[in-house]
Amino acid sequence: MTRVFSGIQPSGTLTLGNYLGALQHFVGLQDEHECFFCIVDQHAITVPQDKVKLRQNIRKLAALYLATGIDPKKSTLFIQSEVPAHAQMAWIMQCVSYIGELERMTQFKDKSAGKEAVSSALLTYPPLMAADILLYNADIVPVGEDQKQHMELTRNLAERFNRKYNDIFTVPEAQIPQVGARIMSLQEPTKKMSKSDENQKAFISMLDDEKTVIKKIKSAVTDSENEIRFDRENKPGVSNLMSIYSLSTGKSLEEIEQDFSGKGYGDFKQAVAEAAAGLLRPIRERYEELIHSDELDDILDEGAERAQRAAFKTLKKAERAMGLGRKRR
Ligand code: TYM
Repeated sequence: MTRVFSGIQPSGTLTLGNYLGALQHFVGLQDEHECFFCIVDQHAITVPQDKVKLRQNIRKLAALYLATGIDPKKSTLFIQSEVPAHAQMAWIMQCVSYIGELERMTQFKDKSAGKEAVSSALLTYPPLMAADILLYNADIVPVGEDQKQHMELTRNLAERFNRKYNDIFTVPEAQIPQVGARIMSLQEPTKKMSKSDENQKAFISMLDDEKTVIKKIKSAVTDSENEIRFDRENKPGVSNLMSIYSLSTGKSLEEIEQDFSGKGYGDFKQAVAEAAAGLLRPIRERYEELIHSDELDDILDEGAERAQRAAFKTLKKAERAMGLGRKRR
């Protein structure tokens, strides 16, 4: 059976971008693949975090995974720091990566630009991500477009290790959706929608209430035309709203253009706002039931155990291939 792995950082409440670019696609993979979904808290601490908030965000993310339909009977849901093999494998991955290739990562350049105290872990973040994936011999990694470069590095590291030592790792494929792989900021639609944006109006949190969702979409930046047409370059705001609408309703971009031909931005925004609010409503309701439940802890305990069992096997193989440890007499 093919294996799927993906991870999300618990660094704030997830946005509609995280949902449409990644989470929404996870659910459908569960029936046909063996899936591992991870709360990558060790990735989150590569930049400063408030410890109380981080703990809350880890729990929130676990509840959100489940609220969107991740089924613990089908998939393994776990917290990265509860499975020590991740940090151990990350060390091995660091030993096969070069500083030059890590410095070329755009995410490293963006996050370190203009900062004085940059942690060395911000540089070695991609080897940890490679470790996450390779530990489970994942064939498929569903992610948004911003993870493309990290995925290419992961493939390179796997191939390099396999060539140099032993053919141990599966070389994974990124699965990036056609629509919605890059949901943009509602206020500056040439920028990615991000949970760390200072402007609250720029992103929709998955836990925003209906009124807030509707307000934010209605005040989204568009352009001076009044035509609903998909053109990412010249109409980034409208195109972004069209992607959101398409993923919220299942309608294709062409159908949306037809449905709204001759109508103005007012009608269109109203429809997008209602669709997005309707999409998030059941998730928020399920989330409220889960967040304080014991069930959540049981699922995460079980997940960590299952993940550790799978990961430990690959870790040992990789260590042996490199000559780590000792041979028993
Ligand atoms: P993170 O936590 O930033 O984002 C989680 C997932 O959401 C996608 N995403 C988006 N998709 C569309 N539009 C957006 N505006 C948007 N913003 C985020 C991301 O592409 C991602 O799929 N490095 C990863 C976490 C990670 C990981 C892994 C992922 C660690 N180890 C192993 C896959 C496999 C990250 O920071 O994602």
